[in-house]
Amino acid sequence: MYFFIEPMRESDIPRVQEIERQSFTTPWSATTYLRELRSPEHSRYIVARYSHTRPPNQPEETEPRRGWLSNLLLSRLGTNAPPSPYAVVGYGGIWLTVDEAHITTIASAPEMRGYGLGELVLNGLIDLALELGARFMTLEVRVSNVVAQNLYLKYGFEARGRRKRYYTDNNEDALVMWTDEIGSPEYQERLRQLRTLLAERLKRQAALPHPKLPD
Ligand SMILES: CC(C)(COP(=O)(O)OP(=O)(O)OC[C@H]1O[C@@H](n2cnc3c(N)ncnc32)[C@H](O)[C@@H]1OP(=O)(O)O)[C@@H](O)C(=O)NCCC(=O)NCCS
Repeated sequence: MYFFIEPMRESDIPRVQEIERQSFTTPWSATTYLRELRSPEHSRYIVARYSHTRPPNQPEETEPRRGWLSNLLLSRLGTNAPPSPYAVVGYGGIWLTVDEAHITTIASAPEMRGYGLGELVLNGLIDLALELGARFMTLEVRVSNVVAQNLYLKYGFEARGRRKRYYTDNNEDALVMWTDEIGSPEYQERLRQLRTLLAERLKRQAALPHPKLPD
């Protein structure tokens, strides 16, 4: 089983919404996603797909470096490319401001959690942010969402603020998390180490049938 990252296409929206409904209490509408995909100057979205065999144009990498995932920008696939034969199992997006990339959403399909997919998507977003010249990354996360917080902490996000009653469905507070400079030598070294471990993990998993996916 191989996971790989690509820019989100308009044809991915129904599947993305399906995962979103399983993951969030206030999912975005299809119209919102369309608007986001059609505003690449302000926002970028990616999906993770899976394949039972190595998909075309996906090199085997054991030591991912910066740019590991970022055939994203170079991809000639527009967001209105024809549907992909590979199923979407995760997705994420960023909003871009002058020097910040704000993670707007990130999720992996419930049956695929715990296999490094969320981490892969986060890496895709970090690569996008770097390529687009962002210096910092930020996001809001529910105070109760310890799983997501752990993922962000692993990648150097720190809670530096709190927005009271930010989530209107249950009045829950949000933690505001920030990275240090993502282009700094220290952050790049941390990323290199994490990516090496993630690549090894994904490579090990690729050799095995996925317990929760059909053959
Ligand atoms: C958050 C989410 C994207 C993580 O995706 P995932 O594919 O399960 O995560 P991964 O397998 O890549 O795990 C990456 C890290 O997340 C954390 N994590 C994952 N599952 C965890 C669990 N059950 N308990 C605690 N931490 C966990 C760990 O830090 C883990 O790193 P490790 O494997 O070295 O311990 C996923 O749980 C999800 O889609 N949640 C619903 C949507 C959501 O809450 N999005 C975040 C909004 S701010």
